Amino acid sequence: MRKILITGSGGLIGSDLYAALCDRYGDANVVSSDVRHLHDVRQFEFLDIRDKERLRTLVEAYNVGTIYHLAGLLSAGGEKNPALAWDVNLNGLMHVLDTAREFNIRVFWPSSIAVYGLTTPKINVPQHTSFEPHTVYGITKSTGELLCQYYSHNYGVDVRSLRFPGINGWKGEPGDGTTEYAMHIFYGALRERRYECFLAPDTRLPMMYIDDAIRGTIELMEAPSEKLTVRTSYNFSAISFTPAELAAELRKLHPDFEITYKPDIRQEIAATWAQSIDDSIARRDWGWKEEYDLEKMTVALYNGIKGRIYHE
Ligand code: SER
Repeated sequence: MRKILITGSGGLIGSDLYAALCDRYGDANVVSSDVRHLHDVRQFEFLDIRDKERLRTLVEAYNVGTIYHLAGLLSAGGEKNPALAWDVNLNGLMHVLDTAREFNIRVFWPSSIAVYGLTTPKINVPQHTSFEPHTVYGITKSTGELLCQYYSHNYGVDVRSLRFPGINGWKGEPGDGTTEYAMHIFYGALRERRYECFLAPDTRLPMMYIDDAIRGTIELMEAPSEKLTVRTSYNFSAISFTPAELAAELRKLHPDFEITYKPDIRQEIAATWAQSIDDSIARRDWGWKEEYDLEKMTVALYNGIKGRIYHE
């Protein structure tokens, strides 16, 4: 088979996706790449996605037929360096799309709830609506979605995308984002019995447990092309909760946990995003359905992060 290349493989989503793709297709068929060297993978290649020639070289050397393009800056990281976020997130995506066009490669690229803005409905955001993102990260995702559709319509590139909500996992490190409090809270509880949250207690955001996100991603990538009616990025959702609701759930497992709140710039970012999403088109087109609710996700994260800390 033509091989699978993952960019940004060392990140939160990449860590779990690498394992899932190896289980499904065999580790000889999965090539991991990142700007940080990864040691616990069978095939690793250094790749800065701003270097298009390096990408082309790897694609040719490994006979790559599918790219999961995860490399990118998140919302809070992007605000610290907008020019870098533009360069990595958008020029990097163009490099992948151009290479996919040249070598006939299927591409997965994650968009985000950061495409939503203050003119987007807050509740049950429809697939097609107003997008006026406030962060440079959201601007790169919104523009990237249009680029994907452009390459699909004009050049026949088979690029598929999901608007990821906050994704919560435990195998990889949480990144420099806004929804990431929902993982930091577990590290705080397990290490110090307390956590100071950078969002206000009632900030409701769309979220998903990583196993659902990975399964949904692979299901989308394996769906027959003719079923897919969205070539920008599919609305994709599972659960919505607030920091206070997550803290209450966590306290069921860890009764002496204490939370305090000190909202910072990430609160301003979160305030521009939606609270819940209508993803009925994903459910109709390729059968998307989540398995994890808040309670099940909390138990999985608690046990996973506890095991990680124990082995430190
Ligand atoms: N987790 C991401 C962020 O907060 C959402 O796309 O930046």
